[in-house]
Amino acid sequence: MISTLSPTVLDGTRIAEAIKTEVAMQVQQLAAQGIRPGLAAVLVGSVPASQIYVRSKVQTCKDLGLYSEMIAPPDTITTEEMLALVVQLNGRDDIDGILIQLPLPAHVDTKRLLEAVLPEKDVDGFHPINMGRLQSNQPALAPCTPAGILEILKRSHLPVAGQHAVILGRSDIVGKPAAMLLLHENATVTICHSKTRDLAHHTRAADILVAAIGRPGFVTPEMVRPGAILIDVGINRITEQKDFDRFFAGNVKRETAFREKGSVIVGDVHPKAFEVAGAYTPVPGGVGKLTIAMLMANTVRAARLRRGLPL
Ligand code: GUN
Repeated sequence: MISTLSPTVLDGTRIAEAIKTEVAMQVQQLAAQGIRPGLAAVLVGSVPASQIYVRSKVQTCKDLGLYSEMIAPPDTITTEEMLALVVQLNGRDDIDGILIQLPLPAHVDTKRLLEAVLPEKDVDGFHPINMGRLQSNQPALAPCTPAGILEILKRSHLPVAGQHAVILGRSDIVGKPAAMLLLHENATVTICHSKTRDLAHHTRAADILVAAIGRPGFVTPEMVRPGAILIDVGINRITEQKDFDRFFAGNVKRETAFREKGSVIVGDVHPKAFEVAGAYTPVPGGVGKLTIAMLMANTVRAARLRRGLPL
């Protein structure tokens, strides 16, 4: 039966603000002990989306009272030079968190670099040690976007234990760690990917569907069980009129924005599919807002962990 109730919008902006307020309070408490958590954000080259994200991360540090530093080497930087930079940041006492914005240029050895970051400063949770800790459910620095997904579910009082969570995408940044976090909350977890047969069969079985594949509007209404929770991790920029029409024809607000900016952002979930859901995270204003909030929380956590302070 199709539900006639309108779906609940899971407001990422509001939840992120609540987390940031909590982080700012913790920063104040640490300041009273003479401690100022610090983040170094490394942005290589000039990928426009990465520039926007990193600037926003650095600005949020400023807003919340953390120390921050943006290091922006040119995209000609070598792996060895990047390694030297990481070693230097590892050794600095005023830096608690090191963030290397991905993707890096193809000639840079990303895996080697992520392994060079001290696990206790790895606020992205990308170091193999932290991935292992996450897998074995030991408190660690968890990747920010998956941690944000859990915060949205928890703070919206949505049940996770016993629910069937289906994840589209098996990336190291989102899909795999999200699966682990949901599993530790006692969800039954299925990970789907580009080779999965009969994808809609799996997605229709989901109580919680997490879409993290980077394909605009991929999840269509037929793929969603009515009443399911949709977590849309995609941030895809649409610039072609035909694509715009496929997603937002007749949406006056979006049409105005598209005309003014020449582009519009759409998630991995088709807007029509949200109408079938019980609850969903919008794009923009959903999961994306949590990524930065959780980075701030992880930086404060790293500052405490490194000094042996209670969490
Ligand atoms: N690129 C896309 N998402 C992320 C993230 O969460 N952290 C870093 N460092 N790079 C990213």
